[in-house]
Amino acid sequence: MKYFILFFLLLSSLESELDKKWVSNKNCEACHQDISKHWETSRHSNSHFSKNDLYKKSLEYMVLKNPKLIFDEIKIKCAKCHNPRISKTSIKDDEKILLALGVDSIKKEFRDILNNEQMKHGINCVVCHNIDEIHLDKEIGSQGLDGVKFGVQGTMFGPFEDTKSPYHKTQYKAHFANDSATLCFTCHYSHNNEQGIEVYSTGKEYDSIQSDEGCKSCHMSKKKKGVASNYSKAGEKPKVRMVRDHRFSSVDNSTILQDNIDIKSYKEEQNLIIELSNNSPHSIPTGYGLREIVIIVQFYNKDNKKINQKQLEVLGALWHDKKGKATLPFMATIKVKDTRIAPKSTQQYTFTLPKGAKSATYILSYRFINKKMARIIGVSDPFFLKEYKIKEESLDL
Ligand code: HEC
Ligand code: HEC
Ligand code: HEC
Ligand code: HEC
Ligand code: HEC
Repeated sequence: MKYFILFFLLLSSLESELDKKWVSNKNCEACHQDISKHWETSRHSNSHFSKNDLYKKSLEYMVLKNPKLIFDEIKIKCAKCHNPRISKTSIKDDEKILLALGVDSIKKEFRDILNNEQMKHGINCVVCHNIDEIHLDKEIGSQGLDGVKFGVQGTMFGPFEDTKSPYHKTQYKAHFANDSATLCFTCHYSHNNEQGIEVYSTGKEYDSIQSDEGCKSCHMSKKKKGVASNYSKAGEKPKVRMVRDHRFSSVDNSTILQDNIDIKSYKEEQNLIIELSNNSPHSIPTGYGLREIVIIVQFYNKDNKKINQKQLEVLGALWHDKKGKATLPFMATIKVKDTRIAPKSTQQYTFTLPKGAKSATYILSYRFINKKMARIIGVSDPFFLKEYKIKEESLDL
């Protein structure tokens, strides 16, 4: 019996540890050069807390505010989606006690689990391409790791039926083909925090308009002629196929927002109207609950001098804790405000012309996190604090 248990333990640890051949995109880069380079520019490659200041400060803030939480336990919970190749998925009561007591050996064990190389590589190639089955229960929302079955190590699932690689096995899976959104919904459908408040709902937003355009045409690229691998046997050339970029575009590494909203500005009676049309199949902004789009308007008189204070409009959501104070989505007991633009819809913003206004300038920009919450949790990486300018325009009134 003892040997049986030992054997079982060994087997389960073998299953969850990734072989060195697959842990990093560097293992793939020689033969998938462009794909690997593109992926490195994406947030998927920065999803480990050691590479993402906002994520790290969020974890620290949650523990600071709730000393009953154990740091390593919540890191394991969040890793379900942020680092799904984690080798440990739950934490036992006796481990909690030892961690709380600060026993060195267990601290080291958890450090190794949470900080090893495969974890640091975030949502990398073998997270997506080793997913064999996806079980998404839309009532529950995204489950990350708990909603998928990984295949045997060394088999790369993908969109093609006729590939051969000298480094790994290949197999076609429908969730990579066409415009299917299923793979993305493993993590991007929706998620509730421990208090039952929905913290994001990109997939639900998409379902609400019964869209079938998928995610890849905008967040990867349209299908185009290229190669799946730059590798070929001596004397042969890589096969030309219809492929996509692996950019997982966002505001920081692309013009995705400029390309998918229409902005109109005009005077109507004594108002300046700014009209935004969201051409995407989800809200704008979507995803992480503290993203914001800000419109700032400045009016000028006939001598081109500024009049009045700037006028401001913020599109985003606000979250409160049970004391009624602003907090992170994960700690909220209520979402108090949500002014994001619904999928495929148009919203108008009205700015009253001050007396003597002859012209106006407006700036539309994007923030990864609400400024006040960034200050509260101590985010310091300029990547998250920067305002990403989407459009600036001056007009005579
Ligand atoms: C295993 C879970 C998982 C899967 C599968 C997944 N994502 Fe993500 N995605 C995440 C997480 C977690 C982040 C946030 C990473 C960070 O910023 O630290 C993210 C970030 C993003 C971002 C960028 C957001 C930003 O802040 O720049 C985009 C765009 C995105 N994902 C699109 C997709 C698309 C499209 C698919 C399907 C082809 C997909 N994702 C599949 C978990 C996943
Ligand atoms: C977030 C999930 C995700 C991650 C991470 C990811 N891929 Fe992909 N990959 C996809 C999807 C979806 C497709 C199918 C694209 C399509 O429709 O053609 C794909 C397609 C491919 C293809 C076939 C060529 C093509 O464009 O269709 C190769 C090869 C590939 N990926 C390799 C990689 C490598 C190497 C990495 C790591 C550097 C990686 N992928 C990371 C989701 C992912
Ligand atoms: C020695 C070269 C080499 C290495 C290293 C390599 N691949 Fe490939 N891979 C290929 C070739 C060749 C193909 C098939 C290309 C074709 O037929 O167009 C391929 C195909 C793929 C496909 C498409 C499968 C399908 O049928 O749709 C995926 C996904 C993939 N590789 C992922 C990876 C990942 C992830 C890694 C790193 C862990 C990796 N590859 C490392 C050469 C390589
Ligand atoms: C028509 C183009 C389009 C399609 C299709 C699309 N998106 Fe987006 N997506 C955008 C734009 C534009 C943004 C940037 C503004 C924002 O944050 O909402 C964005 C932002 C995002 C973000 C947030 C990025 C961040 O920095 O926080 C995520 C996550 C995301 N999309 C996921 C998806 C998923 C999942 C799908 C498929 C169900 C999808 N998108 C389909 C255009 C599109
Ligand atoms: C069910 C899947 C899932 C779980 C579990 C999860 N997240 Fe996320 N998280 C996501 C996705 C998907 C995104 C990307 C959304 C976007 O970029 O707009 C994200 C983005 C984030 C971001 C923004 C990162 C950035 O680079 O801007 C933070 C911060 C974050 N999550 C914190 C947490 C914390 C803390 C936990 C654990 C308490 C957690 N998440 C658990 C799916 C998950």
